[in-house]
Amino acid sequence: MNHRPPAPRMTVIGTGYLGATQAVCMAHLGFEVLAVDVDPAKIDALASGRLPFYEPGLDTLLGDTLATGRLRFTTDFDEAVAFGEVHFVCVGTPQSAGSDAADLRYVDAAFTELARRVACDALIVGKSTVPVGTAQRLTALVAEVAGPGVEVAWNPEFLREGFAVADTLHPDRLVFGVQSARAEGMLRAAYAPLLDEGVPVIVADLATAELVKVAANSFLATKISFINAMAEVCEATGADVSLLASALSYDDRIGGRFLKPGLGFGGGCLPKDIRAFRARAEELGVSAAVSFLHEVDQINLRRRSRTVDLVRELAGPDLRGVRVAALGAAFKPDSDDVRDAPALDVARLLYLEGASVVVYDPKANANAHRAYPDLDYAASLAEAVNEADVVLLLTEWAEFVSADPDDMGVLVAHRRIVDGRSALDVARYRAAGWEYRALGRPAGVGVARS
Ligand code: UGA
Repeated sequence: MNHRPPAPRMTVIGTGYLGATQAVCMAHLGFEVLAVDVDPAKIDALASGRLPFYEPGLDTLLGDTLATGRLRFTTDFDEAVAFGEVHFVCVGTPQSAGSDAADLRYVDAAFTELARRVACDALIVGKSTVPVGTAQRLTALVAEVAGPGVEVAWNPEFLREGFAVADTLHPDRLVFGVQSARAEGMLRAAYAPLLDEGVPVIVADLATAELVKVAANSFLATKISFINAMAEVCEATGADVSLLASALSYDDRIGGRFLKPGLGFGGGCLPKDIRAFRARAEELGVSAAVSFLHEVDQINLRRRSRTVDLVRELAGPDLRGVRVAALGAAFKPDSDDVRDAPALDVARLLYLEGASVVVYDPKANANAHRAYPDLDYAASLAEAVNEADVVLLLTEWAEFVSADPDDMGVLVAHRRIVDGRSALDVARYRAAGWEYRALGRPAGVGVARS
């Protein structure tokens, strides 16, 4: 007979992208969940069914799960800790000010507060991305404050913004970093609905679990920078990186995903994770092992200044007074996140060169304005491109990719476009009389071939 422990009650500490998604999805799977955050505005919004950020599908699921009564939100830490048996820590680990290392103050605070209050049979599960060795350190901290019986486990999260719900409800794999069979059993109970559906689980020690996450993000960043390094070589030779990427992708060992050339990676994860990994490797005396991540970072950042060069190719060397329409501000489509966004960085560089930059993003205008109040913002695509000397596609939102080059051509001052994501139909733009430039592709590309 299959003895399954009763479904645990869960608390989720931190209600950013990760925590809010975890709380909503766990409640959707049938668990009783109480989520806690120090920010009353966030908790008020979530408790009344409003997401404080844009994430497709999560808003609907939030409303549905609130209606079941299984999901609640609070700012009261005592109430939250008393409620759950499994505590998921989902707080941010941003890059430290002034160094590449991860800033662990929120994780440390969450564990300290939990350890002070937690019941002796509880499991504290870290989900935040942390430098390897952090969970071991936190285990010692918890043992000292909470005494024996309270366990720490690590269960890294692999969700992508824009696909947060699908990635959480249908993950490729679950990773459990545990120190005992009891902790593994509690995690299996917490994820029982997913395990029943056959989601693979890797049970590991704490350090391996922590490393899986940073290794995965490092690999993905490296893959993107690899193709962007090839773009640099293409630029020096007249070769076409989009054709190159397409030809490489037929090899199953390489594959086409995360091989899209362009402006490169940004966001709150990949850039800071590869930097924090290097910082941690240095502390561990193994900096040579991941020194290549410095190049990965540099290749990625060089794409931004190269994009500005392409604007100069089209508009002339002096960008003062040149009117530029920057289409996109978010670090990727279907997100309103502008953290380390390549799009906004390019807009900022152009602004510093004296260009008159008008930014439009379907969802990220407000966040972008908070980050860069000096830039001008348009309320629509048409308003952004109006009288533009050069149009830049910086984030490949469907609205931009599907825009009609003839319709847009009527509005601009000059039909010149820089495709920072190699996402546009070159032949259509050329047929409509646009001068087209893309990273890693020769200026004449698309005339004969596309
Ligand atoms: C990333 C990882 O993909 C997730 O697995 C991980 O859980 C998450 O970080 C995290 O650590 O929390 P995310 O930052 O949401 O997810 O975004 P990605 O879809 O990975 O895209 C990252 C950046 O790479 C974007 O700026 C995107 O435009 C860029 N990118 C992606 C490319 O330039 N080329 C590609 O081929 C793919």
